[in-house]
Amino acid sequence: MPRKLLIQNVDVPGISSLETYRAHGGYASVEKALKTMRPEDVVEEVKKSGLRGRGGAGFPTGLKWSFLAKPEGVPRYLVCNADESEPGTFKDRFLMEKTPHSLVEGMITSAYALGVHTSYIYIRGEFFYVARILENAIKEAYAAGLLGKNILGTDFSLDCHVHVGAGAYICGEETALLESLEGKRGNPRIKPPFPAVAGLYGCPTVVNNVETIAAVAPIVNMGGDEYAKIGIGKSTGTKLISASGHINKPGVYEIELGLPVEEFIYGEEYCGGMRNGKKLKAVVAGGSSVPILPADLILKTANGEPRLMSYESLGDGGFQTGTMLGSGGFIVMNEDTSIVKNLFTFTRFYHHESCGQCSPCREGTGWMEKILQKFINGTAQESDVDLLWDVQGKIEGKTICPFGEAAAWPVAAAIRHFKDEFLEIARNKKFVDISHYEKLNGGLS
Ligand SMILES: Cc1cc2nc3c(=O)[nH]c(=O)nc-3n(C[C@H](O)[C@H](O)[C@H](O)COP(=O)(O)O)c2cc1C
Repeated sequence: MPRKLLIQNVDVPGISSLETYRAHGGYASVEKALKTMRPEDVVEEVKKSGLRGRGGAGFPTGLKWSFLAKPEGVPRYLVCNADESEPGTFKDRFLMEKTPHSLVEGMITSAYALGVHTSYIYIRGEFFYVARILENAIKEAYAAGLLGKNILGTDFSLDCHVHVGAGAYICGEETALLESLEGKRGNPRIKPPFPAVAGLYGCPTVVNNVETIAAVAPIVNMGGDEYAKIGIGKSTGTKLISASGHINKPGVYEIELGLPVEEFIYGEEYCGGMRNGKKLKAVVAGGSSVPILPADLILKTANGEPRLMSYESLGDGGFQTGTMLGSGGFIVMNEDTSIVKNLFTFTRFYHHESCGQCSPCREGTGWMEKILQKFINGTAQESDVDLLWDVQGKIEGKTICPFGEAAAWPVAAAIRHFKDEFLEIARNKKFVDISHYEKLNGGLS
């Protein structure tokens, strides 16, 4: 049985309550850290664990924590990024909805390690009901002396606030999130300075993903070395994967990093194979922003090695033949899927969500949508494929935040691996039917 450290108890009735959560070992990491460890010992365990940020970029968490500036007399903040707006990703929502105390526990243990006394959970507006669940868990934690002054009778005090955003994908970018939390328009900031030096209200701040923070509790409980034994190479521990698309069992799975992709798609313990026995055509492995890979390349690397669910293996070959683990939003497409139609959907999303601050992104996402619209209408020329390639290349690397890459990479990868599909539509003036999608979503304005 694969080890589960984060969602092993989600099916226990009443696990969202403090009483049941504690009866299943909850808050042990808070007891252990606050009563038997120094803050720097906790940071050390996280470093040893090899934990990498689960928000998408995979930056080592212990290292990020060690960058936190500690000037005398200046408050420090811990901000949990619960914005989760990346299409195809729904693992943070699952965790918060089912087992909210896992996040609250991670917040307390992490804040103790960082010497933080005020913390925030920034949650996307559409998750208003999850915000209520979290608020309830926080209330229970205060009442039990796990939050507030002198937690569990120690010298350590912490407040935790839930802040509901207004529903903008860009507010998941950490500096846009901080702007929004300060009550301003969610525009990304120019870096440096990084949040670790000048973050919330200009003070040193750590921003971490929900899953990253929740993982700190099992790391403290089992020790960093033990945690690092799970996984493969520099991809240590377990990872939540949101699996969707043409598979038999969509849902959230906790995997040990290093699991072969083939086993994840076809294994009964995971996605259970392709729905209706259809053939696998392509996978977007880490949320809509990461490059799509055709079936042969997602199952095996260019060298013929089995592709594994890890940062390194999914990235093998760079973007020519590889992709990224990203946020773990694993979207599976069968042989009947139109890559062009799928790309149009993604690109329309990015155009809609661009904050508009940088012209290459604001204008470029609009141009990409317009060109793709021609493929949908059946009015595209063959030369439009080159034009689309050209436009995406003018966005990547030319914006304040990585939203530009998030919008450009899917376009580049679709052309790289499925150029013939674009050309066929252009040559035969084929119309791509999106009426089903339009009916489902009512379209984006
Ligand atoms: C456009 C955009 C959207 C993002 N959305 C999220 C998000 O919803 N949740 C998240 O944790 N990180 C998101 N990120 C990444 C954050 O900027 C940041 O790297 C992350 O919260 C750091 O946490 P981690 O080190 O624990 O992964 C996004 C980045 C970009 C550029």
